Amino acid sequence: MCSIAFINGQFMTIDKAYVNIEDRGYQFGDGVYEVVYVYEGVPFALEDHLERFFNSLNSVKIQTDYTKQDIEQIIYDGLKEANLKYAEIYFQITRGTSRRTHTFPEKVSSNFVLNIQPGVNPPTELWEKGASVSLAKDIRWSRCDIKSLNLLPNVLAKQEARDNGYFESVLYRDGYIIEGSSTNIFIVENNQIYTYPANSHILGGITRKHIISLAESINIKVNQIPFTVEQLYHANEVFLTGTYIEVLPVTKVNSEIINNGLVGPITKKLNEEYKKWINNECGLSAIKIS
Ligand SMILES: Cc1ncc(COP(=O)(O)O)c(C=O)c1O
Repeated sequence: MCSIAFINGQFMTIDKAYVNIEDRGYQFGDGVYEVVYVYEGVPFALEDHLERFFNSLNSVKIQTDYTKQDIEQIIYDGLKEANLKYAEIYFQITRGTSRRTHTFPEKVSSNFVLNIQPGVNPPTELWEKGASVSLAKDIRWSRCDIKSLNLLPNVLAKQEARDNGYFESVLYRDGYIIEGSSTNIFIVENNQIYTYPANSHILGGITRKHIISLAESINIKVNQIPFTVEQLYHANEVFLTGTYIEVLPVTKVNSEIINNGLVGPITKKLNEEYKKWINNECGLSAIKIS
């Protein structure tokens, strides 16, 4: 069992994995990325992640010779090599390596890097007790639908939250709640769910998409419309979604306690349904890496 990296065609151990200091990802954040979780040796929702990855590449006009099938193959080969059943896969493509200049370099190939490491233990205690979030002004650009390497505003917001004892930072703009620094956010009001619409102000989370269809499949109405900071403070339930945290209940927003500090029934149900879904896709019935 080990961590493994893949750079432009070759597998290697992570300590041997380097890129050139003139890689445009390093100098400009000129690239896009994805994070996929692996359960029981099977990458969950890989198709969705690959689709979003290629949409991000198209949006920033980065070309690559790698196809979705190539990346899928690299992932399966890498998982076999690393022999990991519960793992986190990170991959990115940057515009390539060239002398630093803002304009796109000519005749330069993009750089593909991927690494596979043991998954980070899930936040089980927070799933049971609920997490706390603080609020921060959304100072990001207006193409947050692109999963770009430029994450400085997200990093600063998350760190400020952690420094103040909160798990996540939730971003707001013009009085409306947008999303978390690395998560999407939902509220429950009168047994209906509300979440910001998937436009260019948020990253359209893969988990968000699955939770919306799961909720609808059990007849819970989902309203993809903006909700206000005030609605968040007074919501019956609040939860976050993301690849790593899955469905994470929120029981505190700044100093305001949500649902008397208890995990609400709709959040609990969706969490259970989501776990069942992962199990179906990646559990004993799924094809496994030998
Ligand atoms: C800003 C932001 N929003 C939402 C998400 C959740 O997306 P997903 O469910 O695809 O992990 C992420 C994940 O990295 C993110 O960075």
